[in-house]
Amino acid sequence: MIVLGIETSCDETAAALVEETGDAAKPWRLRSSVVASQVAIHREWGGVVPELSARQHIRDICGVVERTLLDGGRARFDAVAVTQGPGLVGSLLVGVAFAKALAWSSNVPLVPVHHLAGHLESLVLESGELPLPSVVLIVSGGHTSLYLVRAPGALELIGRTRDDAAGEAYDKVAKLLGLGYPGGPAIDRLAADGNDRAVGLPKTRLTHADRNAPGMPGRRDFSFSGLKTAVLRHVSGRRAALRLDESSSLPEQEIRDICASFQRVVVEVLLDRVFETARWYGAMSVGIAGGVSANSRLRLDARNRGEARELPVFIPSLSLATDNAAMIAAAGLRAFRAGTIAGWDLNAEAGLKLGTATAG
Ligand code: KG4
Ligand code: ZN
Repeated sequence: MIVLGIETSCDETAAALVEETGDAAKPWRLRSSVVASQVAIHREWGGVVPELSARQHIRDICGVVERTLLDGGRARFDAVAVTQGPGLVGSLLVGVAFAKALAWSSNVPLVPVHHLAGHLESLVLESGELPLPSVVLIVSGGHTSLYLVRAPGALELIGRTRDDAAGEAYDKVAKLLGLGYPGGPAIDRLAADGNDRAVGLPKTRLTHADRNAPGMPGRRDFSFSGLKTAVLRHVSGRRAALRLDESSSLPEQEIRDICASFQRVVVEVLLDRVFETARWYGAMSVGIAGGVSANSRLRLDARNRGEARELPVFIPSLSLATDNAAMIAAAGLRAFRAGTIAGWDLNAEAGLKLGTATAG
């Protein structure tokens, strides 16, 4: 069986063809994947502009799907899987409407996919089924959530951010340093030449019992808005001390040091929780997915911590870490095999909850 996946939840128009292998341990094989990024359009505005995003998806989607089918060596597919949510509603609508029309006219089933189930599947697509139970962190521009995976494809939420997502914190800090959009890759690059101990920044710990979700002992929630504010205060203080006017930026080495210090704290906070939780649940593996999993320090430190604990760590390759449709096609295959098919009245849902992709 071959599934065509379509993803338009944010600022990437993506399509991919994924097929079943018949091997239960490594169930999916990627045939082709195309991602048209809108970064250049949104950069001018300092962030994603929803209306521009939706309009660009309309321009790009036909070409992206055509290219995917050509690259995949065939125009035939047995189902169309599409991101139903969460995401920007106007953007999601383009993908959902296109997927509906394509599935209906091709006489194949339509399968709704939750965007985060897609990020989880990026791990399986690349490395095969995870040794279970697994603790999986999905860390992106919109989410920073920790899941326990006890059965293939099944995400149980065990911790999440109380305010900003980690990627959002990267984007906001980059903006206040004048580094443009998206912030993650820019900070990652500059941090490589900075001193990660140069600026003392706080690690927020949500340890108070009533700050944790009911029935969730321990410290598994995240918070990044305090860290962002601490960077803001530091930057304002330094600008005042150096008597900089509006148009001048901090000295380059200082910016590198701030980036490295910020990145060290983000990565430590994320990995402390991930590995504490993995120990708590007796996890057999750790997975990290989502746009921020492209971060070089997060990847390196996670692998080192895993090696020290003899715990396998799975992180997708860069092309599968940020938004793509290969993960949506793979998650669609899993959902289809579990009996999920959408009706032709499927609608995009900006705030779709996990486990609720509509089946009719
Ligand atoms: O998963 P994704 O492509 O889209 C969402 O579902 O949000 O994640 C995008 C986020 C952005 O906030 C971006 O700044 C961040 O991932 N990101 C990174 C890196 N590359 C992308 N953050 C840190 N380091 C990176 N190298
Ligand atoms: Zn994403």
